[in-house]
Amino acid sequence: MNVERNLILAFESSCDETSVAVIENGEKILSNIVATQIKSHQRFGGVVPEVASRHHIEQITDCIDLAMSEAAVSYEDLSAVAVTYGPGLVGALLIGVTAAKTVAYAHDLPLIPVNHMAGHIYAARYVKPIEFPALALLVSGGHTELVYLAGPGQFEIIGETRDDAAGEAYDKIGRVLGINYPAGPEVDRLAHLGQDTFHFPRAMDDSKSFDFSFSGLKSAFINTVHHADQIGETLKREDLAASFQQAVVDVLADKTMRALDAYPVKQLILAGGVAANHGLRERLDSELTAFSDVEFLKAPLKLCGDNAAMIGAAAYVSYQLKQFGDMSLNADPSLEFDWIAS
Ligand code: KG4
Ligand code: ZN
Repeated sequence: MNVERNLILAFESSCDETSVAVIENGEKILSNIVATQIKSHQRFGGVVPEVASRHHIEQITDCIDLAMSEAAVSYEDLSAVAVTYGPGLVGALLIGVTAAKTVAYAHDLPLIPVNHMAGHIYAARYVKPIEFPALALLVSGGHTELVYLAGPGQFEIIGETRDDAAGEAYDKIGRVLGINYPAGPEVDRLAHLGQDTFHFPRAMDDSKSFDFSFSGLKSAFINTVHHADQIGETLKREDLAASFQQAVVDVLADKTMRALDAYPVKQLILAGGVAANHGLRERLDSELTAFSDVEFLKAPLKLCGDNAAMIGAAAYVSYQLKQFGDMSLNADPSLEFDWIAS
C-alpha cells in the first residue's frame, strides 16, 4: 500500500529556543533543530525579551537550513509550513511567524498557525496516537493548566493557575537557592536527595475548583530562607527542595486525580517543561493505578521543553482538517485556547 507522505516544516520561537523541524504525517520526526539561548539569559536570572528576539533573528535561517538538510528533503517535498503564533513573547513570536510566512509564500505552501500550548500537548503524540476524550496536565514556565480534549483540535481549560505557573515558581525559588535559570531540573535533582521537613502550604488543595495557586508556596519558601539567613541558621538545601517539590507535586496530582473523577477520559497526557520533573512523573504513575482504564501518556523527556517537533505534530491535526492561515497571520502574545473549533 502506498501511504501518502505529508511533510510539515514547523517553526517554534515563542520564548528562548529557536527551533525548526521537519515532521512526516504528524508522527515521525525527520529533524528537530533546537538552538537554545539559555546561556545568554542566565546572567539576568530569566528571559529578557529583547535579547530573545535578537537571538531568534540570528539563529532562524541556520535552523531552517539544518532542519532541511538533516531531514534530507527539498522545499518541493513539503506539504505545509506550521508556526507557533502565540502565546509567548511578541518579538520572539514575530521572528518565527515572519520566517514561516516567507517560506510558505516563496514555495506556495499552506500556512498552519499553531497554539504553543496545543503543541506541548501534541509532544505526547510521539509516544502514541492521542485518543479522545483525553485530559492534559500542562505544566510549563508560563502556564499551569488542566485541559479537556473532547476531540481533535478541541481544547477546554477546566483549571488553571491564578498566579504563578509551576515552572515560574521553580525558577523563582531556585534563584533564592543560588541556582541558575531555569532552576527546575536542579531543584528536581536536589529534591530526590532530601526530605519534606518544612511542610509548605498546599494552596487550594481543598477547593472544589481545578484552579491552582503557587505564589503562596513561593512566598512561604522565600520567607523561610530569609528568616534562617537573619538568625544565622543554615538550612539543608536538599530538604528545602524536597519540601517545595512535594508541595507542588501534591497539588498537581490531587487536582488531576479529581479532574479524572469528574471527566471520564481514555488518556491522561502530561506535557510542558515541568512534565520533565521526575517527582511528578513518578507520583502520577503511582496515582494512576487507581484508574485502570486511563492510559498515561507522558511527553518524551527530550520533547517536554519548547521545540518545533511538537508544533509539527499539532499542525498535522489542522492539516487534516484543512484549517489554514494566510499572509495576514500575526503573532498573538496572549492567545487563548480556542484556536480550532471542529
Ligand atoms: O515549556 P517550557 O520549556 O517553556 C515554557 O513554555 O514556559 O518550560 C520551561 C520551564 C522552566 O520554568 C523550567 O524550570 C521548568 O520548565 N522545568 C522543570 C524541570 N525541567 C524544566 N521544572 C521542574 N522539574 C524539572 N525537571
Ligand atoms: Zn513552552
